[in-house]
Amino acid sequence: MAQNPVQVLSRYNETFGDTFRIHIGGLKEAMVTIDPAVIQHVLKTNAENYQKSEIQVRRMGHFLGKGLLTTHGEAWRTQRRLIQTGFDKKQLEALSSIMRDSLAESLQDFDRHVRVGPVDIYPHLMKITFAMVARSLFGARLKDEDIDLVSHTICTVQEFIVRQTLQPYMNPWFAVSGKLRKHEDMRTRADAVLLAYIKKRRNGPPGHDLLQTLMDARYSDGKGMSDELILSESMQLLVAGHETSSNALSWLLYLLSSRPDCIERVRQEFDTVLGEAPLGYSDVPKFEFATQVICEALRLYPPFWMIDRMAVADDRVGDIAIPRGSMVIVYVYGAHHAPRYWENPENFDTERFAKENEKLRTPFTYLPFGAGPRGCIGGNYAMLQILMILRDLLRTYDFQLASGQVIEARPMVILRPKHGIRMTFTKTIAPAPCIA
Ligand code: HEM
Repeated sequence: MAQNPVQVLSRYNETFGDTFRIHIGGLKEAMVTIDPAVIQHVLKTNAENYQKSEIQVRRMGHFLGKGLLTTHGEAWRTQRRLIQTGFDKKQLEALSSIMRDSLAESLQDFDRHVRVGPVDIYPHLMKITFAMVARSLFGARLKDEDIDLVSHTICTVQEFIVRQTLQPYMNPWFAVSGKLRKHEDMRTRADAVLLAYIKKRRNGPPGHDLLQTLMDARYSDGKGMSDELILSESMQLLVAGHETSSNALSWLLYLLSSRPDCIERVRQEFDTVLGEAPLGYSDVPKFEFATQVICEALRLYPPFWMIDRMAVADDRVGDIAIPRGSMVIVYVYGAHHAPRYWENPENFDTERFAKENEKLRTPFTYLPFGAGPRGCIGGNYAMLQILMILRDLLRTYDFQLASGQVIEARPMVILRPKHGIRMTFTKTIAPAPCIA
């Protein structure tokens, strides 16, 4: 189970059906489900009764303070309503140019690396996407060294939180050995850097970024958020958007590397829709095939391979009793790979997501961005980001999987490639032909 939970849980699904109970680490009982009716109940219909897990609320809250990821109830609802405006159509269109500029800058660095030989795409894509998210939040002028510091802090602190959760018996040692303090200090340094940007903005001209949305947002009493709350909400958006789009893109490029037919079709679509024009948020619905390709990659490799919740009060779905305090694991990977919901589930088949096939899908069996009120707030942003990066990479490069490697998924908090994904990039010889 610790080595490969996906393999074990999928086998249990085959043996015991859509919903079963297990003892995690031999101790805590959890209910694991891919049953669409149970998923709909837990994530949507009775979402109020299912809070986020301990790792998100207590451990992350210790480092990240209060924010969308770590709060419940009315406090969460109010914040969600305010922050949502930062991800509406108008705002995403405004963010598009910051994202494009950041991408262009990052791709220069990427180019220097891929010229030399094969690269592991995972850390490179993470660097590219993180810079885009960080600049969308704090503005185009966010310095490279500040982005690196915050990114390094998030990676290190996240790894520490995972250790604290997986090895709780080590926590007294982490406290006395100074490890806990070391990670708290890192967080304090990153906070100070970002707080300086917030203070500068308070006293300077407005921007067109998410920071400005957070600053302009008003509660019903007309008051705005404090600098400290803006800081913790920003940090939580950075954490949530840190490794998700890059993870999705890594698996997408891996899948595409064996499908030159799909690559050509996506290239032609980008060409037909945009020609030489820049990609903005209003263009997103025009990329039907590219969207199908992305959706299918997110089905096969959902970055969040499971979503965990805890029942606040006794509950029941059909004949399944869910006692108060029990853990419910929505097994996203299992739902995406279940033969009873998907034909030939292991095949990369983009037609599943063609518009005409939409009605064939069972609701609540496709959950890359979660579902219900706590579903991903950054889903549309992520789709825009993935399309932008894919377009620029396909315009510039042909790419191939480097030989002699085993590609395997490692389900930690998110579904990472266990040994990375090494690829060779060569410049495209001529621009892809346009379809008349
Ligand atoms: C392909 C990329 C992404 C995927 C697959 C993804 C997936 C998810 C999922 C599954 C959840 C729900 C978790 C749960 O119910 O416990 C979630 C929540 C969230 N995501 Fe994303 N995400 C992505 C990108 C982003 C980006 C780019 C941002 C921000 C810039 C973001 C911000 C958030 C936030 C703040 C939440 C918590 C929402 C709340 O609790 O109200 N995500 N995401």
